[in-house]
Amino acid sequence: MSFPNEFLWGSSISAFQAEGARLEDSRGLSVADLRSDEGRIRLDIADTSIAVDFYHKYKDDIKLMKECGLKSFRFSISWSRIFPQGNGRVNQKGVDYYNDLIDELILNDIAPIVTLMHFDLPQSLIEQYQGFLSRKCISDFVDYAKFCFEQFGDRVRYWLTINEQDVLTGIPFFNGLDSKKESAQADHHMNIANALVMKLYHDMGLNGKIGPCLSYPTRYPASLDPADQFLAMHLDDLSIFSRVDILMYGEYPKYFLNDLKNKDLMFTIEEGDEELLKGANPDFLAVNWYTSEVVGQYVDEESFGNYKGPDIPRKNRSEKGVAQYYKNPFTKYGSYEWNIDGIGLRYALRKIYSRYHLPLMITENGYSAKEEVKDGHVHDDERIEYLSNMITNMSLAIEDGVELFSYNPWSFIDILSSSQGMDKRYGLVFVDRTNHDCKDLQRIKKESFYWYQKCIQNNGNA
Ligand code: BG6
Repeated sequence: MSFPNEFLWGSSISAFQAEGARLEDSRGLSVADLRSDEGRIRLDIADTSIAVDFYHKYKDDIKLMKECGLKSFRFSISWSRIFPQGNGRVNQKGVDYYNDLIDELILNDIAPIVTLMHFDLPQSLIEQYQGFLSRKCISDFVDYAKFCFEQFGDRVRYWLTINEQDVLTGIPFFNGLDSKKESAQADHHMNIANALVMKLYHDMGLNGKIGPCLSYPTRYPASLDPADQFLAMHLDDLSIFSRVDILMYGEYPKYFLNDLKNKDLMFTIEEGDEELLKGANPDFLAVNWYTSEVVGQYVDEESFGNYKGPDIPRKNRSEKGVAQYYKNPFTKYGSYEWNIDGIGLRYALRKIYSRYHLPLMITENGYSAKEEVKDGHVHDDERIEYLSNMITNMSLAIEDGVELFSYNPWSFIDILSSSQGMDKRYGLVFVDRTNHDCKDLQRIKKESFYWYQKCIQNNGNA
């Protein structure tokens, strides 16, 4: 394997999925909390009130990270733990918590990688002015980021701005909004916020780096039909490359704006916005990568029988009028319709790197399953197979010339899945609770924990 000696082997979580303690120590609610309440009622799954209690158990969890050999840990700050209303009064207890967490990581030689917002906008900002739909949110986000840089920037060397902005934009209620039209306007404001925060960070002269956090499923065209080939490229451009282009060049690609106009989703650009978007200069790109997808032209149910497209099973997913998704018969699928495709990861890393020549870190990558403890053990062989396949292909990408400097699989401990609560587990460490019974939240190392420990010890060879 060809990993550099200083490669940051790590792991990842986010605040709303792990911390719990959602009303403790004066924290304010976030949109993620309300969304989880809705999930509890509608889907009968656990909410964020306790999650896996990382808020109280972080010291023990960091001991486990140390035992595993982690060199980095990616987590997010809950904005509403520091500013319960999203702006105005600072909650010192929240600041103390993150100071302690960061200090504890550093004491254990684990580099903190911090996301400023991971799907959890303060709910109060929705009530005050509808969150990122309003331009006021831009300055509140910049103030919050500035505060974090001032408080934690002496010890945090890697910052991520907004987790998966394209996912946030695609699912309006993830950002506390109601419609795609609102979401598109909020997206524009988040682009400005992203650029301003990156410029601010660089102007502050801190000793660290900052970048966006992108979601990138590799998209293969479903057939040789040029229309399918084009569609796969076009969807990649819309969801990921346009976003990086905006940050890199401070301009919206024309096809991106055309797409919004065609869908009647075009947002308002005010005078001076173009200037605000310029000069972000991300230092690296963080990528969340789980799976590859096979995508072809949209076929409605009625005309499907006449469709001369690929003769492979369709997935239960289509984007009406846009795309139809298929299963890839050459890859193995796990229990949640996500496949194990390390080559897809190598493909994505190559594609991103060759376009921007910026260093890359992987901030999410992992295998989800329903799991239970049997005789004190959790046998998660498929997770090991998945991680091993990914790491082999990361090594090949490095040999290809990609500057990949950190790997942070999702997740270190089991966390609340954003869609399935505690049923869908990703962790290297099992957390003993179910959706309905919090039990004692005991941590039990899975087989994959020991496998990853060995992998880190041998710099990629397990
Ligand atoms: C990523 C998110 O998109 O996917 C994580 O950043 C999320 O927050 C992960 O947990 C997996 O999705 P899910 O729905 O299985 O939790």
